[in-house]
Order: sequence, then structure tokens, then C-alpha cells
Amino acid sequence: MPPPSRERTDDAGYNPIVAFITFEGIEGSGKSTQLGLTAERLGDRAVVTKEPGGTAIGRALREVLLDPARRELTPMAELLLYFADRAQNVAEVVRPGLSQGRVVLCDRYVESSLVYQGCGRGLSREAILSLAELATGGLRPDLIVLLDLPVEEGLARVGRRGSQDRLESERTAFHQRVREGYLDLMAAEPERWCRLDATAEPGTVFARLWETLQARKLTGGPGS
Ligand code: TYD
Repeated sequence: MPPPSRERTDDAGYNPIVAFITFEGIEGSGKSTQLGLTAERLGDRAVVTKEPGGTAIGRALREVLLDPARRELTPMAELLLYFADRAQNVAEVVRPGLSQGRVVLCDRYVESSLVYQGCGRGLSREAILSLAELATGGLRPDLIVLLDLPVEEGLARVGRRGSQDRLESERTAFHQRVREGYLDLMAAEPERWCRLDATAEPGTVFARLWETLQARKLTGGPGS
């Protein structure tokens, strides 16, 4: 079944199909770059946010979540903090954006918790899905963009950036489980996902991404 779309007409007479698009990928996949290029192309039709850290409260939570010194953070506490951030982001940024008829672009969402805390840390998938229902009211993306590349390549890119945060410093096997987790989620619901080969040049990746957004009528513009 295709994901639901929420149609509205805005003041400029456009008939945008309001879209909630999330960007996922392992460390070093370039998802933030692709989100930025998409936002630039959409102009003021876009609302941009990220998890963790899309709101003031989220930025405080992000500091705790990514601080490499906080070794005592338990996997369950980590999961709940990601969902606290998400509940705030959905209420404060995502839902208001969608009700204004904008295209909401979010850097990471529930699928990150499913693969990092679920596949990576081994927490229960059912527990994560229940939290998702509670924290987001069941709001799901219209499209999940997966920037996919081999773990070694992603980690090498991150290594070149310098210091690593708490999750980046996890061992390769963890990131491998994360990547495989994404591919399994995509295989279960291919119509909701768009996988892009993130080893290509950023301009090439974006050209493919934009084509997909247009083909799926997710750019919110006239005639889209
Ligand atoms: P992010 O800001 O996307 O960092 P990067 O650009 O380096 O990928 O994400 C921060 C980290 O938080 C990243 O390692 C993935 C992790 N994360 C989870 O483990 N679970 C979650 O639910 C989310 C949203 C992020």
C-alpha cells in the first residue's frame, strides 16, 4: 500500500502534496549534505530539522547523547533520550511544518533508533516501535532516503574529519549491523524507501535524489 499523502492548497495557489522526508545512513554517508542540497532546491517550501538536536531542548539532549565522556549512559537511557528529542521535534517542528503545507526534511528519525539502538545495541524492536507510537503519534515519513555505502568507506570519511563522538567511536561490527539493519528495513517496505549509492560524487547523488522526489511528487511545487 502506498504511504498516505496529505494534500492541501497554499496561498500561492499551489497544490502541494505535503511531504515528510527523512534522511538516513551510517556515519560518513553524506546525508546532511544531501539534505542541505534538497533544502536549497526547495527554497522556502522546505522546513529543515534533525534528530537529535532539532529544537532547543533537543540540543541539550544531543550534548548528553554524543558526549564521548558519558560512558555510563545505558542503552535503555540512550533510547529514551533519543525518543524525548523526537517527541519534542515532532511537536515543535515537524507537525507545524506539515500543517503549514511545507515539505519537512528531517536528518534521521525513527529508523535510526531501529537500527542503532535495535540492531546495533540489541534492544527490542517491539519496544522501539511502541515508543515511536507514543512519541510521534504514529507519524511516518512519506519517503526515507537511505544514503548507502560500505562501512569502511563511511568510517574512513569520518576519520578524516578528526575527533569522533560517542557513537562514531563504536567498533566496525556495530556499524555493520546498522547498515544491514537499514537494508533489511528497506527490503520489508521498499515503496517507502529510496536507496542511493553514497560512494558517488555528491552532485551525482543529488541528481538521482531530485529525480526521485519529482517522480514521487514530493517537491511540493506547482505541477508536482
Ligand atoms: P548525526 O547528527 O546524524 O551525526 P552524523 O552526521 O555524524 O551521522 O547523528 C548523531 C548520532 O546519533 C549518530 O551516530 C546516530 C545516532 N542516533 C542513534 O543512535 N539513534 C537515533 O535515534 C538517532 C536519531 C541518532
